[in-house]
Amino acid sequence: MHKDDSTYASPFVVVSTPHMHEMAARCCAHITGKHGVTFPHHRVEYKVFASGEVLPLIPETVRRQHVFLFHALQHPTPNDALMRMLVLNDALARASVHGITLVTPFMSYLRQDRKHKKRMPISGRMIADLIESNRQAERVITADMHADQAQGFFTIPVDNLTCFGLLADHCREKLGGDVSNVVVVSPDFGGAVRARSLAKRLRVPVAIFEKRRDEDGVAEVDMLIGESIVEKRVIICDDIIDTGGTMRATVKELLARGAKEIEVWTTHAILSGNAAQLFADGGYRITCTDSIPRSQSYCEKNASWLTVVSMDVLLAEAVYEASLVGGSVSKLF
Ligand code: R5P
Repeated sequence: MHKDDSTYASPFVVVSTPHMHEMAARCCAHITGKHGVTFPHHRVEYKVFASGEVLPLIPETVRRQHVFLFHALQHPTPNDALMRMLVLNDALARASVHGITLVTPFMSYLRQDRKHKKRMPISGRMIADLIESNRQAERVITADMHADQAQGFFTIPVDNLTCFGLLADHCREKLGGDVSNVVVVSPDFGGAVRARSLAKRLRVPVAIFEKRRDEDGVAEVDMLIGESIVEKRVIICDDIIDTGGTMRATVKELLARGAKEIEVWTTHAILSGNAAQLFADGGYRITCTDSIPRSQSYCEKNASWLTVVSMDVLLAEAVYEASLVGGSVSKLF
């Protein structure tokens, strides 16, 4: 530590990249409103050259400060987002930051977490290596990683927050506390722990499908283990909706087996390709968080089938606790 460190007003600063400016600003406002602490917030913009190369522009000095870097690892695409993070990390290190906590609600590539066929990469591990390749990277704050054990890809601490507490609160409020006749369903074994945790929060039973993908990657669900879903109000929960194939297959199977009502809950609604249109036409609701940033107008336009629950407070509290000597992020799990 430099002997003059104590002369800086705030040892912490929030830095955000374009898709996360609004969420970072709301988190800063929450921290100030609830805890009376103000972290300066700097908004990074990128210059994109004709060749496609990107150059981050950090507007203020960050020298000797600890940076909470709000960055979406999905936008504009996972690959572009990764490069944007790498060049910004390099710029922050060369600007003499004291340390970096990456705050990224959704971490892309984590579904590629094992070699399940010949000649496959383990891209999730590679992403962890790239994040840590910045010598100033100290910590990651993220949410509902595809599998909890992906924390082990990192050697630095990872706070893997769960949004299913937020979603459970939202559900209780919506149902006026009446969760009778509700069953939580996981579309696959991989999501069983998540479904159980949600069911426990709601104090309702759980059922789990076995999911397979055929050669073309089309999802099929088959054997259902656990509570009966006949004439029940079913909440399907999953970490990610990407193309929507898993959810559509699960809904179809549940309806065929006699479920009465169906809702779909997820943390990360990527909604690739025509998934949004298929859900809009599907006749059931999706509730997700804002881990994948979307504009206000998008949410309003799709409000008939999409409910977005904000994870601002969860993230803001995690950032605040991570800034404290003796703070506790685990109490938010
Ligand atoms: C897979 O195991 C995940 O938990 C999700 O079920 C999957 O990624 C969803 O993808 P899609 O919406 O494309 O079926």
